[in-house]
Amino acid sequence: MIYRLSKLSILKSKLSTPILTSNLNQFGLKLRNFHLSKMESVSEAARGWSNPGVSNIYEKTRPDYNLDSVEFLLEKVGALKPHLGPEPFTIVELGAGTGKFTRAVLKVFEKHAVKNFKIIATEPLREMCEKFKEMVPNVEILQCPASDLEGLPSNCADTILAAQCFHWFGMDPKALDEIHRILKPKGTLGIIWNLPDRSVSWIKTIEEWLDPKFEDINIPRPDNQIMFVRLRNHDGFANEAMDETTYKYNMELDFDGIIQRYEGNSVVSAAPDKEKERLLLAIEEEMKTNSDTKDKQIYTYEFVIKMHWFQKI
Ligand SMILES: C[S@@+](CC[C@H](N)C(=O)[O-])C[C@H]1O[C@@H](n2cnc3c(N)ncnc32)[C@H](O)[C@@H]1O
Repeated sequence: MIYRLSKLSILKSKLSTPILTSNLNQFGLKLRNFHLSKMESVSEAARGWSNPGVSNIYEKTRPDYNLDSVEFLLEKVGALKPHLGPEPFTIVELGAGTGKFTRAVLKVFEKHAVKNFKIIATEPLREMCEKFKEMVPNVEILQCPASDLEGLPSNCADTILAAQCFHWFGMDPKALDEIHRILKPKGTLGIIWNLPDRSVSWIKTIEEWLDPKFEDINIPRPDNQIMFVRLRNHDGFANEAMDETTYKYNMELDFDGIIQRYEGNSVVSAAPDKEKERLLLAIEEEMKTNSDTKDKQIYTYEFVIKMHWFQKI
C-alpha cells in the first residue's frame, strides 16, 4: 500500500495534540488511580490490536527477541538455575500477545536443557490469544489483563515476565497488587523491551510523531521512567536492577514491511481511519526523503534492548 502526503501537511494538521492538563507531573504524564472493570483497564489504544488482521501484522512485522538478551534476563530472574521441584518452576507471562517472547523463552530453556518448569501466559485481547494458541500451542494462555489475574492463585509464580508491555499497566496500582499477590515471596519480576533506536534519524523522526499520541492516552512510551514510579514506591518490591546498553537487535524490512510495522503499532491501529492514513503517508514521505533511506529497498530497523528486574519482598 502506498501513501502520499507531505510531511509538512502532516505537521500542520496537528498530529501532535498535547491535551494534557495542569496536573501533569515532571514526566509529562498523569498518575491517576484506576478503578475500572476487567476490559476497561486495557487502554482503548491497546484494543486497536483486536482489529481484524492486526495480530497477523503484529506477528509479521514486530521484532523477535535477541536470544542473548532473553538468556540474560532469565538468568537474572532465576529461571535458568536447576529447578529441583517437587513443584515446577512457574513463570507467568503478562501481555503475551502472539507469543513472540514466549517462544524466545522456550528456545533459551531448550539451549540450557531447563527441566521442570511451567509457563502460564496471560493476555487481555481475545484476538491476540487466538494467534498465541496458533503460534505456541503447547503453552496455556489465560485471557485477562494484568490488573485482574483472578484465574491465578496467590503465591503461585516464581517469576513474572512482561515483554514489550509493562508500560500498558505499570502505572495501574491494581496491576502491581496483582503481580505482588501471585508472586511467591522472593519471586521476581522481569521486564524487557525492544526500543526503536532513536539515534537513527528516520526512526527518531517517526517515533517523535507517535509520542504525543501516547501522551494523549496517558500511556508512557517504554523509555519514560514514570512507569516505574509506582513500582519503586510499592512496599512489596525491592532490589531493582537494570540493563539498557548491552544488547541490540536489528530487523530487515522492505518498504511495505515498514508501513505494516507502523500499521500494527497500537496508537496507529487504534486511530480513526483519516488519522491513520495521515500518519502512514507521513511515514512513507519520511522513508522516501530521509537521506539514510531514500535510495534503499531494504531498511534495517534498529532496536536497543532495555531490561529491568525486581524482587518481591
Ligand atoms: C507490544 S505487545 C507485546 C506482546 C508480546 N509480549 C511480545 O513480546 O510480542 C503488548 C501486549 O500487551 C497487552 N496489554 C495491553 N494492555 C494490557 C494490560 N492492561 N494488561 C496486560 N496486557 C496488556 C496487549 O494486548 C498486547 O498483546
